[in-house]
Amino acid sequence: MTEQETRVNESQADAEGVQGTDKSNAPKEVAPAEYWEARYGSAEQMWSGRVNQVLVETVDEFDPGRALDLGCGEGGDVVWLAKRGWRATGIDISETAIQRARAAARDAGLTETQANFRVADLAELAADERFDLVTASFLHSPVELPREQILRRAAAHVAPGGHLLITAHAAPPPWASDLHDHGSGGHGSADHSSEDRDSETHEVPRFPLPQDELAALDLDPEEWDTVIAQTRDREAVAPDGAHVVLTDGIVLVRRRAAAVPQ
Ligand SMILES: C[S@@+](CC[C@H](N)C(=O)[O-])C[C@H]1O[C@@H](n2cnc3c(N)ncnc32)[C@H](O)[C@@H]1O
Repeated sequence: MTEQETRVNESQADAEGVQGTDKSNAPKEVAPAEYWEARYGSAEQMWSGRVNQVLVETVDEFDPGRALDLGCGEGGDVVWLAKRGWRATGIDISETAIQRARAAARDAGLTETQANFRVADLAELAADERFDLVTASFLHSPVELPREQILRRAAAHVAPGGHLLITAHAAPPPWASDLHDHGSGGHGSADHSSEDRDSETHEVPRFPLPQDELAALDLDPEEWDTVIAQTRDREAVAPDGAHVVLTDGIVLVRRRAAAVPQ
Protein backbone atom coordinates (compact mmCIF):
# COMPACT_ATOMS: atom_id res chain seq x y z
CA MET A 1 0.00 0.00 0.00
CA THR A 2 1.40 3.40 -0.89
CA GLU A 3 1.79 6.27 1.54
CA GLN A 4 -0.96 8.12 -0.26
CA GLU A 5 -3.30 5.18 0.01
CA THR A 6 -2.66 4.71 3.70
CA ARG A 7 -3.14 8.40 4.28
CA VAL A 8 -6.52 8.51 2.60
CA ASN A 9 -7.59 5.28 4.16
CA GLU A 10 -8.77 7.13 7.26
CA SER A 11 -11.60 8.65 5.35
CA GLN A 12 -13.20 5.32 4.60
CA ALA A 13 -14.73 5.24 8.02
CA ASP A 14 -15.44 8.90 7.67
CA ALA A 15 -17.38 8.46 4.48
CA GLU A 16 -19.01 5.46 6.03
CA GLY A 17 -20.35 7.55 8.86
CA VAL A 18 -21.61 10.17 6.49
CA GLN A 19 -23.28 7.65 4.33
CA GLY A 20 -24.99 5.81 7.06
CA THR A 21 -23.52 2.57 5.82
CA ASP A 22 -22.40 2.32 9.41
CA LYS A 23 -25.18 -0.07 10.41
CA SER A 24 -25.24 1.38 13.90
CA ASN A 25 -26.99 4.39 12.38
CA ALA A 26 -28.20 6.75 15.02
CA PRO A 27 -31.64 8.25 14.64
CA LYS A 28 -31.55 11.97 13.89
CA GLU A 29 -33.08 12.81 17.26
CA VAL A 30 -30.00 11.58 19.16
CA ALA A 31 -28.21 14.63 20.56
CA PRO A 32 -25.02 15.35 18.56
CA ALA A 33 -22.75 15.34 21.63
CA GLU A 34 -24.21 12.03 22.77
CA TYR A 35 -23.90 10.48 19.31
CA TRP A 36 -20.27 11.54 18.75
CA GLU A 37 -19.22 10.69 22.30
CA ALA A 38 -20.63 7.18 21.86
CA ARG A 39 -19.00 6.88 18.46
CA TYR A 40 -15.54 7.90 19.70
CA GLY A 41 -16.04 5.77 22.79
CA SER A 42 -16.67 2.71 20.63
CA ALA A 43 -13.05 2.47 19.49
CA GLU A 44 -9.66 3.35 20.90
CA GLN A 45 -8.94 5.39 17.80
CA MET A 46 -11.39 6.50 15.12
CA TRP A 47 -9.15 8.17 12.51
CA SER A 48 -5.58 7.53 11.43
CA GLY A 49 -4.10 10.54 13.25
CA ARG A 50 -2.59 11.72 9.98
CA VAL A 51 -3.32 15.04 8.36
CA ASN A 52 -5.91 15.20 5.60
CA GLN A 53 -4.29 15.24 2.19
CA VAL A 54 -6.20 18.29 0.90
CA LEU A 55 -4.98 20.39 3.81
CA VAL A 56 -1.37 19.55 2.96
CA GLU A 57 -1.87 20.20 -0.74
CA THR A 58 -3.61 23.51 -0.10
CA VAL A 59 -2.01 25.11 2.91
CA ASP A 60 1.60 23.94 2.78
CA GLU A 61 2.77 27.08 1.00
CA PHE A 62 0.90 29.56 3.23
CA ASP A 63 2.79 31.61 5.81
CA PRO A 64 1.78 30.26 9.23
CA GLY A 65 -0.46 32.37 11.43
CA ARG A 66 -3.50 31.54 13.56
CA ALA A 67 -5.58 28.57 12.42
CA LEU A 68 -8.94 27.16 13.51
CA ASP A 69 -10.06 23.60 12.69
CA LEU A 70 -13.83 23.02 12.92
CA GLY A 71 -14.79 19.48 13.94
CA CYS A 72 -11.15 18.59 14.50
CA GLY A 73 -11.79 15.01 15.66
CA GLU A 74 -8.64 13.44 17.07
CA GLY A 75 -6.52 16.38 15.99
CA GLY A 76 -4.51 15.12 13.01
CA ASP A 77 -4.92 18.38 11.08
CA VAL A 78 -4.24 20.63 14.08
CA VAL A 79 -1.08 18.74 15.00
CA TRP A 80 0.17 19.01 11.41
CA LEU A 81 -0.58 22.74 11.30
CA ALA A 82 1.13 23.35 14.63
CA LYS A 83 4.21 21.45 13.49
CA ARG A 84 4.28 23.74 10.43
CA GLY A 85 4.42 26.78 12.73
CA TRP A 86 0.74 27.67 12.96
CA ARG A 87 -0.84 28.53 16.30
CA ALA A 88 -3.68 26.10 15.80
CA THR A 89 -6.96 25.64 17.62
CA GLY A 90 -9.20 22.62 17.18
CA ILE A 91 -12.84 22.48 18.22
CA ASP A 92 -14.96 19.37 18.49
CA ILE A 93 -18.17 18.40 20.21
CA SER A 94 -16.70 15.14 21.58
CA GLU A 95 -14.79 15.28 24.85
CA THR A 96 -13.15 11.95 24.04
CA ALA A 97 -11.96 13.18 20.64
CA ILE A 98 -10.50 16.31 22.23
CA GLN A 99 -8.71 14.30 24.93
CA ARG A 100 -7.12 12.20 22.18
CA ALA A 101 -6.22 15.32 20.20
CA ARG A 102 -4.52 16.85 23.25
CA ALA A 103 -2.59 13.62 23.82
CA ALA A 104 -1.52 13.57 20.15
CA ALA A 105 -0.26 17.15 20.44
CA ARG A 106 1.67 16.34 23.63
CA ASP A 107 3.17 13.26 21.97
CA ALA A 108 4.28 15.50 19.11
CA GLY A 109 6.05 17.77 21.62
CA LEU A 110 3.69 20.69 21.00
CA THR A 111 2.76 23.23 23.65
CA GLU A 112 -0.80 24.41 24.28
CA THR A 113 0.09 27.70 22.61
CA GLN A 114 1.02 25.82 19.46
CA ALA A 115 -1.91 23.39 19.47
CA ASN A 116 -4.93 23.95 21.67
CA PHE A 117 -8.24 22.18 21.72
CA ARG A 118 -11.72 22.99 22.96
CA VAL A 119 -14.86 20.97 23.45
CA ALA A 120 -17.70 23.02 22.00
CA ASP A 121 -20.77 22.72 19.81
CA LEU A 122 -20.00 24.62 16.61
CA ALA A 123 -23.70 25.43 16.31
CA GLU A 124 -23.30 27.69 19.34
CA LEU A 125 -19.93 29.24 18.58
CA ALA A 126 -19.66 33.03 18.61
CA ALA A 127 -17.52 34.50 15.84
CA ASP A 128 -15.56 36.76 18.17
CA GLU A 129 -12.04 35.67 17.20
CA ARG A 130 -10.18 36.04 13.91
CA PHE A 131 -7.92 33.45 12.29
CA ASP A 132 -5.67 33.50 9.23
CA LEU A 133 -6.96 30.06 8.30
CA VAL A 134 -10.26 28.41 9.15
CA THR A 135 -10.52 24.84 7.98
CA ALA A 136 -13.29 22.23 8.10
CA SER A 137 -12.38 18.73 6.95
CA PHE A 138 -15.30 16.35 6.41
CA LEU A 139 -17.60 18.22 8.74
CA HIS A 140 -20.47 15.80 8.19
CA SER A 141 -22.67 14.06 10.69
CA PRO A 142 -25.50 11.54 10.58
CA VAL A 143 -27.22 13.48 13.36
CA GLU A 144 -28.26 17.11 13.69
CA LEU A 145 -25.63 19.50 12.34
CA PRO A 146 -26.51 22.97 11.03
CA ARG A 147 -23.56 22.70 8.68
CA GLU A 148 -24.35 25.58 6.34
CA GLN A 149 -24.96 27.94 9.23
CA ILE A 150 -21.68 26.84 10.84
CA LEU A 151 -19.72 27.34 7.63
CA ARG A 152 -21.26 30.77 7.02
CA ARG A 153 -20.25 31.75 10.52
CA ALA A 154 -16.81 30.25 9.93
CA ALA A 155 -16.28 32.86 7.22
CA ALA A 156 -16.79 35.54 9.85
CA HIS A 157 -13.85 34.05 11.77
CA VAL A 158 -11.47 34.68 8.86
CA ALA A 159 -9.16 37.67 9.26
CA PRO A 160 -8.57 40.02 6.31
CA GLY A 161 -6.07 38.32 4.00
CA GLY A 162 -6.95 34.94 5.50
CA HIS A 163 -8.48 31.78 4.02
CA LEU A 164 -11.41 29.46 4.61
CA LEU A 165 -10.87 25.87 3.43
CA ILE A 166 -13.76 23.40 3.27
CA THR A 167 -13.08 19.79 2.34
CA ALA A 168 -16.12 17.57 2.00
CA HIS A 169 -17.24 14.29 0.56
CA ALA A 170 -18.57 15.19 -2.86
CA ALA A 171 -19.76 11.72 -3.84
CA PRO A 172 -20.75 8.54 -2.03
CA PRO A 173 -17.97 5.98 -1.70
CA PRO A 174 -18.31 3.10 -4.18
CA TRP A 175 -19.05 0.63 -1.38
CA ALA A 176 -22.15 2.60 -0.37
CA SER A 177 -24.09 1.72 -3.51
CA ASP A 178 -26.53 -0.33 -1.45
CA LEU A 179 -27.65 2.95 -0.01
CA HIS A 180 -29.51 3.78 -3.16
CA ASP A 181 -31.23 0.44 -3.16
CA HIS A 182 -32.35 0.67 0.43
CA GLY A 183 -32.91 4.37 0.74
CA SER A 184 -31.15 4.37 4.07
CA GLY A 185 -30.32 8.03 3.77
CA GLY A 186 -28.55 9.00 6.93
CA HIS A 187 -26.49 11.61 5.19
CA GLY A 188 -24.81 14.43 6.99
CA SER A 189 -26.42 17.51 8.30
CA ALA A 190 -30.07 17.79 9.04
CA ASP A 191 -30.22 21.24 7.45
CA HIS A 192 -28.56 19.97 4.34
CA SER A 193 -30.00 20.18 0.89
CA SER A 194 -28.45 16.82 0.25
CA GLU A 195 -31.42 14.55 0.53
CA ASP A 196 -33.50 14.55 -2.59
CA ARG A 197 -36.33 12.14 -3.00
CA ASP A 198 -36.53 10.31 -6.27
CA SER A 199 -39.79 9.70 -8.04
CA GLU A 200 -40.26 6.50 -6.05
CA THR A 201 -40.00 6.36 -2.30
CA HIS A 202 -36.24 6.20 -1.92
CA GLU A 203 -34.17 8.97 -0.38
CA VAL A 204 -31.07 9.48 -2.46
CA PRO A 205 -28.31 11.36 -0.73
CA ARG A 206 -26.70 14.12 -2.72
CA PHE A 207 -23.35 15.39 -1.59
CA PRO A 208 -22.35 19.04 -1.42
CA LEU A 209 -20.50 20.01 -4.56
CA PRO A 210 -18.11 22.97 -4.38
CA GLN A 211 -20.60 25.23 -6.14
CA ASP A 212 -23.26 24.25 -3.57
CA GLU A 213 -20.87 25.11 -0.76
CA LEU A 214 -20.04 28.47 -2.35
CA ALA A 215 -23.71 29.28 -2.90
CA ALA A 216 -24.49 28.40 0.71
CA LEU A 217 -21.63 30.58 1.98
CA ASP A 218 -23.14 33.53 0.09
CA LEU A 219 -19.95 35.56 0.39
CA ASP A 220 -19.72 39.19 -0.65
CA PRO A 221 -17.76 39.18 -3.96
CA GLU A 222 -16.38 42.62 -3.04
CA GLU A 223 -14.73 41.05 -0.04
CA TRP A 224 -13.90 37.48 -1.05
CA ASP A 225 -12.01 35.74 -3.85
CA THR A 226 -12.59 32.10 -4.76
CA VAL A 227 -9.20 30.43 -5.02
CA ILE A 228 -10.31 26.79 -5.45
CA ALA A 229 -13.75 25.31 -6.11
CA GLN A 230 -13.27 21.86 -7.51
CA THR A 231 -13.68 18.17 -6.90
CA ARG A 232 -10.57 16.06 -6.57
CA ASP A 233 -10.24 12.28 -6.65
CA ARG A 234 -7.99 10.34 -4.34
CA GLU A 235 -7.19 6.71 -3.89
CA ALA A 236 -8.53 4.91 -0.86
CA VAL A 237 -9.01 1.41 0.46
CA ALA A 238 -12.59 0.22 0.89
CA PRO A 239 -13.68 -1.66 4.01
CA ASP A 240 -13.41 -4.91 2.02
CA GLY A 241 -9.79 -4.06 1.10
CA ALA A 242 -10.53 -3.04 -2.49
CA HIS A 243 -8.66 -0.08 -3.93
CA VAL A 244 -11.20 2.60 -4.80
CA VAL A 245 -11.34 6.27 -5.72
CA LEU A 246 -13.11 8.79 -3.50
CA THR A 247 -14.17 12.24 -4.62
CA ASP A 248 -13.61 15.23 -2.35
CA GLY A 249 -15.13 18.65 -2.84
CA ILE A 250 -12.71 21.47 -2.09
CA VAL A 251 -13.52 25.12 -1.55
CA LEU A 252 -10.80 27.62 -0.72
CA VAL A 253 -11.81 31.26 -0.44
CA ARG A 254 -9.69 34.23 0.56
CA ARG A 255 -10.90 37.31 2.37
CA ARG A 256 -9.30 40.32 0.77
CA ALA A 257 -6.80 42.20 2.88
CA ALA A 258 -8.09 45.51 4.16
CA ALA A 259 -7.13 48.37 1.84
CA VAL A 260 -4.18 50.32 3.18
CA PRO A 261 -5.19 53.98 3.50
CA GLN A 262 -3.17 56.25 1.14
C1 LIG B 1 -16.42 13.00 10.03
S1 LIG B 1 -15.61 13.60 11.45
C2 LIG B 1 -14.21 14.50 10.80
C3 LIG B 1 -13.10 14.65 11.82
C4 LIG B 1 -11.85 15.38 11.30
N1 LIG B 1 -12.11 16.69 10.79
C5 LIG B 1 -11.17 14.54 10.26
O1 LIG B 1 -11.09 14.95 9.09
O2 LIG B 1 -10.69 13.46 10.61
C6 LIG B 1 -16.73 14.91 11.94
C7 LIG B 1 -16.34 15.56 13.27
O3 LIG B 1 -17.23 16.64 13.53
C8 LIG B 1 -17.51 16.65 14.92
N2 LIG B 1 -18.80 17.32 15.10
C9 LIG B 1 -20.01 16.92 14.66
N3 LIG B 1 -20.96 17.81 15.02
C10 LIG B 1 -20.33 18.80 15.70
C11 LIG B 1 -20.75 20.00 16.33
N4 LIG B 1 -22.04 20.38 16.34
N5 LIG B 1 -19.83 20.79 16.94
C12 LIG B 1 -18.51 20.42 16.95
N6 LIG B 1 -18.05 19.29 16.37
C13 LIG B 1 -18.94 18.49 15.75
C14 LIG B 1 -17.53 15.18 15.30
O4 LIG B 1 -17.35 14.97 16.68
C15 LIG B 1 -16.39 14.62 14.45
O5 LIG B 1 -15.19 14.65 15.16
